[in-house]
Amino acid sequence: MGSVLVVDFGSQYTHLIARRIRQLNVYSKVVEGTKASEEDLDVDAVILSGGPSSVYDDNAPRNDEFLDMLLERNIPTLGICYGMHLLAHHMGGKISRGNKEYGISSINVSDDALFEGLDKRQKVWMSHGDSLEGVPENFSIIASSQRAPAALKHDDKNIYALQFHPEVNHTENGLVILENFIKMFDVERDWNMDDFIVTSTADIKSAIGDEKAIMALSGGVDSSICAKLTANAIGRNLYAVFVDHGLLRKGERQFVKDKFGGILNLKIIDAKDRFFEKLKGVVDPEEKRMIIGNEFIKVFEEEAREIGAKYLVQGTIYPDVIESGSTKNAEVIKSHHNVGGLPETLDFDGLVEPLRELYKDEVRLMGKKLGMPDELVMQHPFPGPGLAVRITGAVNDENIDIVREASSILDEVLKEEGIYGDIWQSFAVLFDDRVVGVVGDQRKYGRFIGLRVVQSIDAMTANFVKLPWDVLERISTRITNEIEDVVAVSYFVSHKPPQTIEPC
Ligand code: XMP
Repeated sequence: MGSVLVVDFGSQYTHLIARRIRQLNVYSKVVEGTKASEEDLDVDAVILSGGPSSVYDDNAPRNDEFLDMLLERNIPTLGICYGMHLLAHHMGGKISRGNKEYGISSINVSDDALFEGLDKRQKVWMSHGDSLEGVPENFSIIASSQRAPAALKHDDKNIYALQFHPEVNHTENGLVILENFIKMFDVERDWNMDDFIVTSTADIKSAIGDEKAIMALSGGVDSSICAKLTANAIGRNLYAVFVDHGLLRKGERQFVKDKFGGILNLKIIDAKDRFFEKLKGVVDPEEKRMIIGNEFIKVFEEEAREIGAKYLVQGTIYPDVIESGSTKNAEVIKSHHNVGGLPETLDFDGLVEPLRELYKDEVRLMGKKLGMPDELVMQHPFPGPGLAVRITGAVNDENIDIVREASSILDEVLKEEGIYGDIWQSFAVLFDDRVVGVVGDQRKYGRFIGLRVVQSIDAMTANFVKLPWDVLERISTRITNEIEDVVAVSYFVSHKPPQTIEPC
């Protein structure tokens, strides 16, 4: 089987590189940069990721021994951003502080095989503080931006390096560039999702055996697909706990009951009161996440004790891991509560996370391959802390009811328009500030809703959706007409980055 090793130097996008390689039907695994060793070299090619460090930082992740091995064995290697700096620095080039480029940039590319089939001018995504000033010996520049070299190639060895990020969607032809790299070195393209399902089902079976396993089922895409995959492996030895914390979307509890009641050992827990009690007066979103995460674990622990399960199954997917800063050198963007939130006081024999390496679109593909309905597989992602992180103010019935209703109206209109299924996420946010409105000829100091509708492929980057004005008008009118107290509706028109998808 063809395979590519991705060496992680702390970039937010490292696993996205692996995901892109899998998209090209090549098996890919990620190894931490400073730990990469000879044992990892049984692969057809290596990609060195970007990262937040400068090669001059005292604690910059380095691995000279590993780089030497790549060079000696002439293993096809592609350095990206920090990976490029590391290679260039290692081989006698000069990296300088400055000439930074962030965001979309235009580059001129040569007719090298890496850019086969592409126009000479390409839009790419840059995100670097340092840049390459002195090209190392025996390297040629094969692409440049206005400010600095954008791509290098070794004259004799199988080494390429890019200053930009081919793995993010903002680089228009990033996938083509990665594909050209794979093709150039004849890496076999024989990996697919069917194989992944077969392998992970067998892995789950061998990890859990005939013991009982427990999982938290939220009814969202990830936990639902994880439940189905695990149930295929261990049947009714999987116990699913659905915690209703009172922060769910409209109709969500019934949906889960209808979809899973028959096929799993499902337990629905009413826990609204205890969550609301703990969240009283809390407004900081990170604090809300922590409280909800901790309370969730407590509820879950109580159930797990009763069931006596030996294994814990979690539907964690890769963006949850990376945004929580769980990989070495990565920064915490937001602490997703399903990560690191393991019940520590419970003595599980093991943790099973079958989706941990996957991105949402891969998880959805898995769901479809497992025969799950679109209604489940294509629903919009919903954060574990639920509606609590969709209000800037305190958690109480009034706030939660308003934001729940506004979101439901938004989704209803998008469904009527036939665009809900094509959108990554759409939801309402309730601000705590009041704004002045006029209702029935009277001044009303009322509530204020923000609408966030974004398109994304993997949640790492996202664009706001340019909804037609008349659709926005219908949504806004319904919200202000149907929800008492709301007098204003606004629309978020910023991408990720710099905004994140959830504003809180
Ligand atoms: P952000 O807001 O970080 O969101 O751009 C990326 C994706 O993750 C979801 N999200 C969460 N999911 N717990 C979760 O399980 C969380 O605390 C959380 N915060 C954000 C978000 O909805 C989007 O799909």
